[in-house]
Amino acid sequence: MASGTGSLLESLLARSDQQHSPFEVTAIVVDRDCRAADIARDRAIPLLDCRVSEFADRAAWDTALAERVAGFDPEWVVTAGFMKILGPAFLSRFGGRIVNSHPALLPSFPGPHGVADALAHGVKVTGTTVHLVDDGVDTGPILAQEPVAVTPDDTEDTLHERIKAVERVLLADVVTALVTKGVVIDGRKADIP
Ligand code: GRF
Repeated sequence: MASGTGSLLESLLARSDQQHSPFEVTAIVVDRDCRAADIARDRAIPLLDCRVSEFADRAAWDTALAERVAGFDPEWVVTAGFMKILGPAFLSRFGGRIVNSHPALLPSFPGPHGVADALAHGVKVTGTTVHLVDDGVDTGPILAQEPVAVTPDDTEDTLHERIKAVERVLLADVVTALVTKGVVIDGRKADIP
């Protein structure tokens, strides 16, 4: 599921193209016109375009999204730059099987401006977090994290690009590990055995 340029999606696709990959991307879900949708069309991967504006309210969108995604029968759902909060209908259908990638070291700097917020705070190290999605905003159990150093001349764009370079690899690594080994949850702790 993606809303942006889809570079995380491309990383997952590149990994799934590798010989003996344990996973495939069965569908791409977008909520707007975006490059991620073009990637789906170019690669002839089933594309679901499900926009909030086409529904009476968020709840109706959430219910329809859950039903339509269920039609692809995914084992795991990956939000890779999907810029919408998933609602209760989606979470009750796929809870525990949704993975999100975030461009900061959670629990610091959750939300849609994680890179800018970290920069504004003056941190010297930020990074990326891959986590399970729960009903909060970037609050679910953490699966993996990687640090990225902030340089004095960083802008939001330069920092985000360096984070994304790390994020692409980490997300593909975590998805590969999850589909082959699963995850053990103990309270807040999530371990891929
Ligand atoms: C990533 O940094 C993701 O964590 C954030 O948006 C970015 C998506 O990048 N939510 P892309 O669209 O995959 O290039």
